[in-house]
Amino acid sequence: MSEQRTSIHGQWTNRTVFILAATGSAVGLGNIWKFPYITGENGGGTFVIVYLLCIALIGLPIMMAEIMLGRRGKQSPINTMIALAKDENRNPHWMWLGWMGVVAGFLILSYYSVIAGWAMSYVFRTGGGMFIGVTADGANRIFTDLVSDPERLLAWHSIFMVMTMIVVARGVKNGLEKAVTLLMPLLFGLLLLIVIYSMTTGYFMDGVRFLFTPGSIDGKGILIAMGHAFFTLSLGMGAIMVYGSYLSEDHSIVQASILIALADTVVALLAGLAIFPIVFANGLEPGAGPGLIFQTLPIAFGHMEGGTLLGVLFFTLLMFAAWTSAISLIEPAVAYLVENKGFNRIYASVWIGGLTWFVGLGTVFSFNIWADKTLSIPFLFEDLTFFDTLDYLTANIMLPLGGLFIAIFAAWVMSERSAKEELATYPKVYSVWRFLVRYITPVAVIVVFLKAVGAI
Ligand code: PFF
Repeated sequence: MSEQRTSIHGQWTNRTVFILAATGSAVGLGNIWKFPYITGENGGGTFVIVYLLCIALIGLPIMMAEIMLGRRGKQSPINTMIALAKDENRNPHWMWLGWMGVVAGFLILSYYSVIAGWAMSYVFRTGGGMFIGVTADGANRIFTDLVSDPERLLAWHSIFMVMTMIVVARGVKNGLEKAVTLLMPLLFGLLLLIVIYSMTTGYFMDGVRFLFTPGSIDGKGILIAMGHAFFTLSLGMGAIMVYGSYLSEDHSIVQASILIALADTVVALLAGLAIFPIVFANGLEPGAGPGLIFQTLPIAFGHMEGGTLLGVLFFTLLMFAAWTSAISLIEPAVAYLVENKGFNRIYASVWIGGLTWFVGLGTVFSFNIWADKTLSIPFLFEDLTFFDTLDYLTANIMLPLGGLFIAIFAAWVMSERSAKEELATYPKVYSVWRFLVRYITPVAVIVVFLKAVGAI
């Protein structure tokens, strides 16, 4: 039973630290880099509404389920699933759910690190005054110069991977906790400042309209919005599960989940409100793709009072936000190697980090020498680069699939008594959670999958 289990990896000092760490995992490039560009690519308003619905009806219930499973299992997602299946006298093959998460995390980090490298290089570009008085064309050229140079991307990718390995190697208490405590509130404050700048561009309402006026969306857009709800909340791959395994019994999962999801959503919306007014004020394309924030924010920094300092701060904090997410992406794999192979944390981090770095080379090249090498998968996508393919398969397929099975396990496989022990501190919320995770969440994920492949 879970009462007797303790995590061999340690425990969060207190509830606030858990919330900060989980928020650190959730808030990252997904909110500030990815949310604006996929919103731009998918036409704005309706996409945002579908995304918000997915956060509330799918993401939040799954987050509660994932933390609950982690806290009962107290191990890496693979061993947690084995242990919980055994507790409930169910098939040990549930461990494959843990494995899929480990693989997804590793694949996501391989490209996440390359993009985090962009953010780091922008700290220096902004600090060196490159953007002072810059035009939209100029900002575009600076971005293109960066991504077309594989050596530079490789150098930044390597630095970021080493930084990630160092924190993960230091472990839960010494590494993860310290890295998150101060940075999240700072990032929040800075984003607010940029939103205030955006209000002065004269195009603020255009940004608001773009973000919130309903338009049209197709099945693929809905899948991307749902996939992003998983990605941005770090769900479906065991990251939040493994963080939950370091959480002690006396903390409320419900409260923590609501706080984390709320903070994550507010940061994404602030990023949208910061970026789109600048996009419209400068006649830029909302659908410009992965370079969107790197082509827009420097224009703001280049034209505002104290912009160089703010820009340096912003990209530094973006890098930190990426860092606190990156560590959660490989924590499940590292915890597994420590538990099953007897590795110490340092050795495990170096192994996983090294492999991730290697796969990341594909993403480095997909912005330059492999830019014209594309892949198509019938019914799913056409002509995507290596980077786009990884992103699509992980965020839009693997995470929702992982989430679907987590929901099924928590609501149908695990006994109601076990779930109640973990979540019933708020009986009303518990009933809503149970209804959502039993019926709404699984059906919604399946319907979105079917709609995306054109089956309905
Ligand atoms: N939630 C992170 C972000 O929005 O940037 C990315 C992420 C971290 C996804 C951890 C999945 C994960 F397990």
